[in-house]
Amino acid sequence: MNNNFSNNVVFQKYDINRIIRETKNGYKSKVIWFTGISGSGKSTISNILEKILFKHNINTYVLDGDNVRSGLCSDLTFSSCDRNENIRRISEVSKLMLDAGIMVLVSVISPYKQQRLIASKIIGKDNFIEVFIDTPINICEDRDPKGLYKKSRANEICNFTGINSVYEAPEKPDIYLDGTISLEENVKNLIQQLYINNIIFFSTYS
Ligand code: ADX
Repeated sequence: MNNNFSNNVVFQKYDINRIIRETKNGYKSKVIWFTGISGSGKSTISNILEKILFKHNINTYVLDGDNVRSGLCSDLTFSSCDRNENIRRISEVSKLMLDAGIMVLVSVISPYKQQRLIASKIIGKDNFIEVFIDTPINICEDRDPKGLYKKSRANEICNFTGINSVYEAPEKPDIYLDGTISLEENVKNLIQQLYINNIIFFSTYS
């Protein structure tokens, strides 16, 4: 018996495709992938960026780790194997959203280099913009917005990224944000970088 179910699946082409959608939208859809440890500012920066893009009539969606894990990935733990599956599913959903002409903002720890490489392969390197929010763990731990560092230190959570589970920082992210500077400066830098890289066609921060 052949257990590879996808062998009997035939890819269907539809006439309304990504190019047609992008032409109608007037911009190219991309996946802006935010990586960084918990509390680094991924969700905060994604939220601000999404509001700015929205104002400029760009169709957006944020795939946030906590949110995705409350539905699509609610069966997954924080073991390395499940984290890889989490990233694989998010990458596949991002790819569908790209096809739908959406500017996708992904906000997930995605702690391993290999899984981010796989994400860029699934999504397509040209569509994938890796943004590393480099916030030192002591700052994240001081912020501790969800009280998870405290719980982790008290051994109430296992495999917590940065404490007892590894975070492999990107060596050459497409965009680097220094988490020690102000939020406003970081958003300005991000907009500037997206503009320079022809992802967006405005450079003002508003
Ligand atoms: S990832 O490692 O698989 O990419 P993801 O971004 O989806 O992580 O989820 C991270 C969120 O889950 C954190 O923001 C935090 O709120 C919560 N969380 C719960 N347990 C852990 C843990 N052990 N390590 C990291 N984050 C955790």
